[in-house]
Amino acid sequence: MSELALLGGKKAKNKTFPLWPHYDNQEVQALKEVLESRVWWRTPGTKTLEFEQAFAQFHGARHGIAVTNGTAALEVTMAALGVAAGDEVIVPNFTFVATASAVLFVNALPVLVDVDPETYCIDPDLAEAAITPRTKAMIAVHMGGHPANLDRLKKICTRHKIALIEDSSHAHASEWRGQRIGTFGTAGTFSFQSSKLITAGEGGMIISNSNKFEVHARSVHDCGRMPGKWFYSHFIYGSNYRLSEWQGAVLNVQLSRLDEQTKTRHQNARLLDRLLSEIPGITPQKLDERCTRNGQYAYIFHFNKKKFAGISTDRFIEAMNAEGIPNQASYPPLHALDMFRNGKYRKRLSGKQATGKHAFLKQKFPVTEKAAWETVWIPQPALLGDEEDMHEIAAAFRKIQRNAKELR
Ligand SMILES: Cc1ncc(COP(=O)(O)O)c(C=O)c1O
Repeated sequence: MSELALLGGKKAKNKTFPLWPHYDNQEVQALKEVLESRVWWRTPGTKTLEFEQAFAQFHGARHGIAVTNGTAALEVTMAALGVAAGDEVIVPNFTFVATASAVLFVNALPVLVDVDPETYCIDPDLAEAAITPRTKAMIAVHMGGHPANLDRLKKICTRHKIALIEDSSHAHASEWRGQRIGTFGTAGTFSFQSSKLITAGEGGMIISNSNKFEVHARSVHDCGRMPGKWFYSHFIYGSNYRLSEWQGAVLNVQLSRLDEQTKTRHQNARLLDRLLSEIPGITPQKLDERCTRNGQYAYIFHFNKKKFAGISTDRFIEAMNAEGIPNQASYPPLHALDMFRNGKYRKRLSGKQATGKHAFLKQKFPVTEKAAWETVWIPQPALLGDEEDMHEIAAAFRKIQRNAKELR
């Protein structure tokens, strides 16, 4: 009988990883308090407001605006910056769809660029080369928790007078040169969806140090209202992106654990770096020395099938999951998504932009292609385990490598 769990053998991992989402009696109490207060709505409430302030402060930001999800955080940010029809926004090709769809949402064109081969974050040289007179902003994604090259991106955006936005949906509590991410540019956006580093099932946040931006973003997220003005006055176009008190209450408790959990995830990931680097064919995402803390939404590594008897990335993932090690495939490249291939994205655009030639439809994106089809992600809850768990993860890699021929 095969040694491999996928082929009927014993699993490599028997001790279970910590369950996610994590909760205890504090969440139960916080929810009960909201229930019994009968204040479930954000507007007169205190819980979401408290969370906005605490989360912003945690990241060294003056302002926090809680919204319904991470996609909404990007949409509100685009609208608050005044990005509109005819404009362009530079985004990495390797990211979740929301980074680009938020740009289309405000009827502007996302311009896709390739990523760095070691960190998988946006390549600053390519990002700069993509700037045109129509470029209004650049969105950097801190992939898997690893900050994009904030030194370079900040300089480039300042030089070209465009806004830098940090899509930090993977990077709560990450640091670049000792400073928490999210305030290197005009705004940082976050997601609190179920798989994220703190969660209320859904939820999002925008943080900023700009008073001017904050006024716009807060208004956009609350139907175009202005604080202190009559409830039924609506000064600009906005919508309802408010987060409920239930979510605010849960997120306050989740935030109180974030620092400790981040330390654990970061440390365990460094142990995995050491263990997995010794396995032929496995190359962990690089940790830039300026990344002083990685929030580590995922542990990302490149899988070279040649060192695993030629089996596909998907087959490897299947075998790892069978061994009891949760791991998953990466994002497909944005340029390969149906909405770009079938031209439907053009319906969000107008004028010449709607019918124009868009370079990313023809361009080659070698790093994104490789990242999309050849990297594998171990989701963050596994990194909340202990050292023994990390050693068991590494042992599962070795086991699959030893027996890879059987998986062909
Ligand atoms: C990089 C990135 N940006 C934005 C989002 C959108 O967040 P949400 O799912 O909360 O809308 C996600 C969610 O997975 C993401 O990974």
